[in-house]
Amino acid sequence: MKRWLYASLLAFATSANAYDIKNGHELVQDAECLKCHSTAKLLTYGKATDYPKLEGWVSSCANHFGVDWFPEDIQDVTNYFAKEVYKYPIPE
Ligand code: HEC
Repeated sequence: MKRWLYASLLAFATSANAYDIKNGHELVQDAECLKCHSTAKLLTYGKATDYPKLEGWVSSCANHFGVDWFPEDIQDVTNYFAKEVYKYPIPE
């Protein structure tokens, strides 16, 4: 699984921008974050009130559940949530 992810990261690297929303989406599904968080339910916590806080939460939930993501993966997941759930602008 990890190897597959890495391969897909490499494959995307040639075409992707600085961030990769699709990778973020796949990571969230693979890590089963959505078991606890439907995307609508995420908003109800109201803790991730801006992009840096959102990133902090993604990072701490990821650590807590031991998903072993690369820093780039944290970034992709943060960007996925920022774009699809919270509608926060994604910093360059
Ligand atoms: C076992 C259930 C559970 C799982 C699995 C889980 N979380 Fe969480 N998460 C929570 C709870 C509970 C909170 C709210 C914590 C609080 O209010 O103190 C939270 C909060 C968050 C928030 C902040 C939401 C907001 O807007 O305030 C983010 C972002 C988040 N989690 C991302 C993730 C990601 C990414 C994963 C997958 C690696 C994940 N979570 C897996 C239970 C879970």
